[in-house]
Amino acid sequence: MEELSGLCVLLIAALSGALAAGDSVTQVNFTDGHSLTLNVTPSQTEPITNILWKFNGNLLAEWVLNQVPLELFGTFKERATLDTRNARLVVNSMTKADTGAYTVEINSKVHAESYDARWFRRLGTPEVVIRPLTCSAGSKTCNASCEADTDEAEPVTYSWKMGDNPWMVSKKVTEINQVKNVNDECITCRISNPVGVQVSAPIKNPFYVHPTPWWIIIIVVVLVVVVLVLVLVFLWKRKKNGDANKIVSTTPPPRESPSGPPSEEHPLKERDDNGAPATC
Ligand SMILES: *[C@@H]1O[C@H](CO)[C@@H](O)[C@H](O)[C@H]1NC(C)=O
Ligand SMILES: *[C@@H]1O[C@H](CO)[C@@H](O)[C@H](O)[C@H]1NC(C)=O
Repeated sequence: MEELSGLCVLLIAALSGALAAGDSVTQVNFTDGHSLTLNVTPSQTEPITNILWKFNGNLLAEWVLNQVPLELFGTFKERATLDTRNARLVVNSMTKADTGAYTVEINSKVHAESYDARWFRRLGTPEVVIRPLTCSAGSKTCNASCEADTDEAEPVTYSWKMGDNPWMVSKKVTEINQVKNVNDECITCRISNPVGVQVSAPIKNPFYVHPTPWWIIIIVVVLVVVVLVLVLVFLWKRKKNGDANKIVSTTPPPRESPSGPPSEEHPLKERDDNGAPATC
């Protein structure tokens, strides 16, 4: 027991020692044109009397109360600002050349916090490509691939949106098929990296089957019921009077209606309903 608690004390001492020695390095991510804001958490109660920011070990900014007016060095001269009240450094118009370590000394002491600034290439718009190129509604399965130039942009995360379903984080290539994707009209992919997000244009899913609109189902059901009723009435009447002439007058209307007008109306009304072809 005593040995254990002794070990704990040692561990805690080692941990706090490591932190005090300046182990808190924050990774900040940027791309061309970004502004970098490096905040400093005050670690002492005494007022700040001097500040020295360094970039990869070289002087970036220096200020000493009443002795050295704020001075910025090198490429930072025109595009950095230092707030001498809190030591916050802002660098504008960042480029790949600004990749590296940003450290600060306050009141002549190395500050525990420092920054590791990393550059990533900005992603372009991805494109959904269906493979094989011969993929059609009759194929068993196909692949949807989210294509983009990811050179110097990694790590890149791929997400997919199938029809009206929510975005799902997945891989660059995802399988699509007739069973799970039959209701997904459009396929869209999204890529993101530490400095941005890009969404593809939606493309048409080869496995999509347009569902029958509710009003067609209702018309068909109503027609079936009408035909059934008329057939029953006809049978009942024939059985009752055995009059052959009445058959002619009652049967034609039901036979024409199910096969005639509704099927001609389908294409026109479907397009009015959801303007689907415009989306993908
Ligand atoms: C889809 O991609 C996987 C690998 O990602 C591959 O094994 C499979 O053969 C591909 N399927 C089709 C239909 O291209
Ligand atoms: C910077 O990117 C890394 C991935 O390389 C990520 O883990 C980290 O959270 C990002 N930092 C910020 C501040 O977004």
